[in-house]
Amino acid sequence: MDVNETISRRYYEYKADYEAAQLAERRGNIEGARKLYRQAAWDLCDMAELESGETRRQRILHARTIMDKAESLGKEQPASNAGRGSGSGTAAGPAKGAAMSAEASGSQDNDNPWISEGIPSTTFDDVVGMEDVKRLIRERVIDQFKYPELYAQYGLQGGTGVLLFGLPGTGKTTIARAIAHEFNAPLYTVLGSDIRSKWVGESEKMISKLFDKARSTPTALIFFDDFDDLGKKRSDDSSSVHDNKIIVELINQMDGFKKNTNTIVVLAATNRPWMIDSALMRPGRFEHHFYVPLANHEARVMLIKMKLGRAPVDPDIDMDQVSDLLAGYNGADIESVAKTAISAALRRAKAMQDRGENGTSPVTYEDFVNAAADHKSSVDPGDIALLRQYAKERGIELPEEL
Ligand SMILES: Nc1ncnc2c1ncn2[C@@H]1O[C@H](COP(=O)(O)OP(=O)(O)O)[C@@H](O)[C@H]1O
Ligand SMILES: [Mg+2]
Repeated sequence: MDVNETISRRYYEYKADYEAAQLAERRGNIEGARKLYRQAAWDLCDMAELESGETRRQRILHARTIMDKAESLGKEQPASNAGRGSGSGTAAGPAKGAAMSAEASGSQDNDNPWISEGIPSTTFDDVVGMEDVKRLIRERVIDQFKYPELYAQYGLQGGTGVLLFGLPGTGKTTIARAIAHEFNAPLYTVLGSDIRSKWVGESEKMISKLFDKARSTPTALIFFDDFDDLGKKRSDDSSSVHDNKIIVELINQMDGFKKNTNTIVVLAATNRPWMIDSALMRPGRFEHHFYVPLANHEARVMLIKMKLGRAPVDPDIDMDQVSDLLAGYNGADIESVAKTAISAALRRAKAMQDRGENGTSPVTYEDFVNAAADHKSSVDPGDIALLRQYAKERGIELPEEL
């Protein structure tokens, strides 16, 4: 595995841990959330170890912020802010955490709101299933840059704002990275929750800084993950003046594109599209909407095989049966079930080696049954209904799922 691949795997892990932490936090599971946030910070540190320069610095700063968050969970808010920059990140662990936080401090003034991972190595082939969605994204978004004259000639030039919506853990973040790969352009990821919590009162400045950064290369992709956190509906409530400013700035920036000489594609992902201010959905802004479905039977089979990776697998295993076992699970769930099943097989293999026996212990159907018993699907069927209803009302293609 080359370095980029390792980094991109770590990035997936980071995303999965971070999102799981947010979920645990929302559900009031403070200790669980703390553990997952710490894990997410560690994933970032692992990435940073393989990186250099500005990317590395950003990564470490980001890890610090998440670590601070982990430590301040369940405590008073002001304490968490005071903790920033005061070395509380050392809870990440002895030597590495301390070294990382030393490297990051001293340059916090240039703190940027985005994570830049360069041109992602993830491709459309890494996005399992949802062939219709991939085809539509190619036709409506990517190809207009590959065949600009043709799209102009046929009058089908469209905007460059793309909203991906669907259940958590279905591959939205993965698709965003694959789109950037197709454009062969750098991806600047902004977590909606981050921009609001870290730059209170300054979020709109950060957005303009982000777009300036994107204008510095011929083509760039901006990706707002957890977009509902950032683009949520404006209200008259005075506490949301700040939110309104964010939306106004986003609109200004997106409408400003036409004057740009470079190409900026703006992607956003959300689990709750109805939360987003409708002004952002107009033509020229986020005008392309794609529903990212839950993996169906075939996609689950492919995901299971992919997540098993190179682990030895029982040759008699019936993947259709495993897929049926995991009906209703999202991609992230399937990934964790596969990891648990692999760990069980590895445990047996270690025991065999300890006993001086030869051979391996492959992953079996039984391992999947046990793993699935431990990890129930995190999908709420009610959410599927809400999302499908939302798509239907707007005439958005609804691929088959389940
Ligand atoms: N369709 C898919 N193809 C490949 N991997 C997937 C797919 N759906 C989910 N995953 C895996 O599940 C995890 C979560 O996916 P992610 O893209 O972060 O989902 P989302 O952004 O929709 O929450 C990642 O590790 C990813 O590799
Ligand atoms: Mg995501």
